[in-house]
Amino acid sequence: MKQSLETTSKVSLPIKRYTIDKYILEALKHLYPKGAICDLGCGDGDRVISLCKELNVKGYGFDFSQKAIVSAIRQAKKHPEVSSCFIADDISDIKEEWPEVEVLIQTLTMLRLSLNKNYVKIFENYKRNFPNMKYFLVFDMIASKTHSALNELLKSSHYEFYQETTFPLSNSRLWIFKNKNFQDNCLR
Ligand SMILES: C[S@@+](CC[C@H](N)C(=O)[O-])C[C@H]1O[C@@H](n2cnc3c(N)ncnc32)[C@H](O)[C@@H]1O
Repeated sequence: MKQSLETTSKVSLPIKRYTIDKYILEALKHLYPKGAICDLGCGDGDRVISLCKELNVKGYGFDFSQKAIVSAIRQAKKHPEVSSCFIADDISDIKEEWPEVEVLIQTLTMLRLSLNKNYVKIFENYKRNFPNMKYFLVFDMIASKTHSALNELLKSSHYEFYQETTFPLSNSRLWIFKNKNFQDNCLR
């Protein structure tokens, strides 16, 4: 039984990723990023590496799992054509500044978070951690109650709603928020 579940997960994960990544790539293409893309909760780094390869930009990935970061670095070595950097850190408490980052993405990690007022601080901190961030893309499978809570938290953190796409998967959405603080002339 265990073996068949593992086999199912090995097969379903790439299918899920392929489906999601296709939409994320399309959305990103319309944002014309020139700076780096950063994946918060990047797991094995596969997504950010493939997106950056397609878009020809640098990639960053953060994950608090050392195991995930080791896999991501291993994955990055297989793609020397993509400039990437993976950091083991807690995305709710990033301390440093990463000025190269223009787009933040966060996929399938909100589900794990208990969304509360602390998130206003976390989302505001992202603006300090990524001072040239223009867009914040969130993909997740969450119920409408959590969806409204997340929208409110991002609004309170002064992100401006830009676009939302729903998917033929249950409770799946890709939201794009704009960083209201961003001055267009900062980056270029
Ligand atoms: C469900 S996985 C999703 C991985 C990847 N984003 C994807 O879409 O396939 C959630 C990831 O977020 C990471 N994560 C969750 N909370 C985190 C936190 N506070 N700081 C850093 N990483 C976190 C986990 O270690 C895990 O790799």
